[in-house]
Amino acid sequence: MNNILVTGGAGYIGSHVVEKLEKTNSNIVIIDNLKTGFKKLINSKVEFVKGDINNIKLVKKIINKKKINTIIHLAGLIDSVESEKKKKKYFKNNVTGTLNLIKACKNSEVINFIFSSSAGVYGNISRAAIETMSLKPNNYYAYTKLKCEKIIKKYSKIYKYKYSILRLFNACGASPSGKLGIISKKNKSFFKILAKESLKKKPIINIYGNNHITKDGTCVRDFIHVSDLALLHIKCLDYLIKNRKSLLINCGYGIGYSVHTIAKIFREKINKSTKIKFMKKRKGEISVSYASINKMKKFLKWKPKYNRIEYILKSSIKWEKKI
Ligand SMILES: NC(=O)c1ccc[n+]([C@@H]2O[C@H](COP(=O)([O-])OP(=O)(O)OC[C@H]3O[C@@H](n4cnc5c(N)ncnc54)[C@H](O)[C@@H]3O)[C@@H](O)[C@H]2O)c1
Repeated sequence: MNNILVTGGAGYIGSHVVEKLEKTNSNIVIIDNLKTGFKKLINSKVEFVKGDINNIKLVKKIINKKKINTIIHLAGLIDSVESEKKKKKYFKNNVTGTLNLIKACKNSEVINFIFSSSAGVYGNISRAAIETMSLKPNNYYAYTKLKCEKIIKKYSKIYKYKYSILRLFNACGASPSGKLGIISKKNKSFFKILAKESLKKKPIINIYGNNHITKDGTCVRDFIHVSDLALLHIKCLDYLIKNRKSLLINCGYGIGYSVHTIAKIFREKINKSTKIKFMKKRKGEISVSYASINKMKKFLKWKPKYNRIEYILKSSIKWEKKI
């Protein structure tokens, strides 16, 4: 029996991971401080503890009482712009938080540790990101994720757990069940913006920069549906259980779409009166970010399920209408 602690399970990706986990034969506990998460996203069939991963005593108590053997760690602050202004807050929450979470595993039954890292660790690159590339995070948020990766690797030797580190590319879309999606109005992801615009009579899509070093001059991203990402977390757990070996992989579709291409699909499929406006390039914005997924495919034998851009758009819009 898997006894799993999911940190950040009231968040966007965490709630999707729990939705998938709940269908497996596992006991699940969520810990979330609800700083950016939502009660509405918490799965009613699993146990929820409102708390912070920096509260070692509380985390230790859950791990020991529930005989936790697996931690899926998604709790974190994720706003890269805010992270530049509030470095201490991000360090304490993401880095110290992860360290405390790991320290709470001392003398416990935890043998699997799964961590949602970010494609941001690669920084500005001009080709597909490969796991072995040298890493140059170009914002403080991404720097905290890289720090966490290092801590997780270091302690795996000391506390004898195996880890999966997933470098997530751009999560998007909403659960096919219609129950989960992005709630936060502050969320600045491209598909959230498109979904919000879709509710207007005359949508306006602002594209920041048409002078990036890409084919059409706009940013290129590897957008991956959140339900596919959630399944990848489960696949990583299966891999750890079967192979007892640690794994670090990229999680994307391995395809880079320019934001202009997606805006044009939106105009074509969702609303023909959509206006696409080109704005000034944003400072520090990466031009190209897409994954090489050879390693992931080799180790996890995974096939994407929700990778059609039209489907991702429609699921985002359906959710936006609901909330
Ligand atoms: N959304 C993306 O595209 C993306 C891309 C790469 C990596 N990630 C990573 O995936 C994870 C989940 O991201 P998300 O998009 O679901 O964000 P989210 O903000 O929706 O979820 C994060 C959750 O963690 C909780 N949390 C934060 N700090 C906490 C703490 N100290 N203690 C307890 N709970 C805490 C929040 O309340 C929230 O529910 C993050 O670690 C993020 O870095 C996300």
